[in-house]
Amino acid sequence: MAGGVTGGGSGTWSDRFDQGLHPAIERFNASIGFDITLLQEDLDGSIAHARMLAECGVISAEEASQLCAGLETIRDEAAAGSFRPGLADEDVHFAVERRLITLLGPVGKKLHTGRSRNDQVGTDLRLWLRRRLDELNDRVLRFQRALLQQALDQRTTLIPGYTHLQRAQPVCLAHHLLAYVEMLERDRQRLADVRGRVNVSPLGAAALAGTPVPINRRSTAEALGFEAIYANSLDAVSDRDFAVEFASAAALVMVHLSRLAEEVIFWASEECGFVRLSDRCATGSSLMPQKKNPDVPELVRGKCGRVFGHLQGLLTMIKGLPLAYNKDFQEDKEALFDLVRTTSDCLEAMAILMEEGVEFRPERLERAVASDFSNATDVADYLVARGVPFREAYQLVGAVVKRCLQDGVLLLDLSLEQWKSFHPVFEADLFEALAPRQVVAARVSEGGTGFVRVEEQLKRWESRLA
Ligand code: ARG
Repeated sequence: MAGGVTGGGSGTWSDRFDQGLHPAIERFNASIGFDITLLQEDLDGSIAHARMLAECGVISAEEASQLCAGLETIRDEAAAGSFRPGLADEDVHFAVERRLITLLGPVGKKLHTGRSRNDQVGTDLRLWLRRRLDELNDRVLRFQRALLQQALDQRTTLIPGYTHLQRAQPVCLAHHLLAYVEMLERDRQRLADVRGRVNVSPLGAAALAGTPVPINRRSTAEALGFEAIYANSLDAVSDRDFAVEFASAAALVMVHLSRLAEEVIFWASEECGFVRLSDRCATGSSLMPQKKNPDVPELVRGKCGRVFGHLQGLLTMIKGLPLAYNKDFQEDKEALFDLVRTTSDCLEAMAILMEEGVEFRPERLERAVASDFSNATDVADYLVARGVPFREAYQLVGAVVKRCLQDGVLLLDLSLEQWKSFHPVFEADLFEALAPRQVVAARVSEGGTGFVRVEEQLKRWESRLA
C-alpha cells in the first residue's frame, strides 16, 4: 500500500480508515489516467495558493518558497518524464501533493491548508479550458483565413446555388465561401463569451462552505488571471455550466465544419466534379485502384457524433445533482478533453483542406451554371422591371420552362420570336440579362451575391482577419 498523503496507514485517507481499497474499486475510482492532463494547471493553482497562504500569514514566507520550489521540481520531473503517478495516487491533485511531501517532508503537508480538492479541481479545469479556448480561437481564425484566401482567389468564379439541393440561382463562389467565414465568426464570439464565464475563480470555496483559515481569495484569483471570484462557495464547487456552454459552442463549430465537409464531399463527387482533391488530403481504396476518397471531410462529419454526445452527456451528468460537489463531476473531464481535442483536430484538418486540399475546377463550374434553369427568376424579374406584376410573370415563366423541358432546350436557346409569343415586352436585351454572370451581377441588394457586394465583403474580411 502506498503511503497516504496524510500519513494514515490505509493509503490516501485519514486514520479513519483501517483497510485499503479493493483493487477493482481503486481502479474504478481513480481519475489519474486522464486528469494528469491538468498537471500544469494544478501546479499553477497550487503555487498561487501557497504564495497567498504566506501573504496572509498562514504559513511562513520560507515555507511558501519551499512549496513553490517543490512544485516547480515536479514540473521539471514531468518534463523529464520521471513524474509517473500511479493508480494509488487516485488523481492529479493527490499525486502532486504526495510527491511534494516526499520531496519536502513535513512542509509539504501544509499546502492543502484552507483548500479542498473540490475548489482545486474546479480551478484547474477552468485554467485548462481558458488556455484551450485561446488555442481554439486561433484555429478558427486560421480556418477563416484559409476560406478567405480561397474566396479571394475565386472572386470571379460562379457556382450553382441550391435550395433543397436543387439548382436555384447561380452565386459567386466567393460569396458561398464567405458564408462560412460568417458562421465561424459567430463561433469565435461564442467561444469568447464562454471564456468570460470560465474566467471566474472558485479557489478558496474549499470543500463547499468556505474556510475559517484567513485566506484571500482575490489574491489567488488575481495571480491566476481570473477576472472575478465566485460569490457563493456552494455554487463555486458545483458549477459546471461552463462545461455545458463550451460543449454547446463546440457542437456549433462542428455543425459548421460538417456542413462544409458535406459540400466538399458533394463537390468532389464524379456527379458534381466542382473540386479536385489534392493527393496530400485524400486517400485511396485498398481494392479499387481508381478511387480517391474524401476521408478528411467524412471524418469531420463523422466526429460530430461524439461532440454532440458529450454535450448530451454533460447535461445528463449534471442534472439532478444536489449541491454541492458530487463525484459525478469527475466525469466532466474526459468529455471536456475529448471535446477540445476533437474540435481542434477538425478545425486544423478543415483549414488544411481549404489551404491545399481542394482545387476548384472553373471549367466544370462554368458549365454547371450555364446548363440549367437557374436564370428563370431573372426572366420574371425582367418582366417585373417592365411593369408586369410579379405573380403574373412567375406564372408565365413557369409556362416557358415547361415548354423548354418538353423541347429539351434551355431558356437561352429560345429565339426572340419565341419569347415574344409568350409576352410582347421581351426584347433582345433579355439574352444578356439571362447570362449567368449577369444573373449574379444583378443581385446587388445588401448582402447579395452581386460582384460589387462580394467585393465589399472581401474587403471587410481582409481587414478584419488581417
Ligand atoms: N478527481 C476528482 C474530480 O475529478 C477531484 C475532486 C475530488 N473531490 C472529492 N470530494 N472526492 O472531481
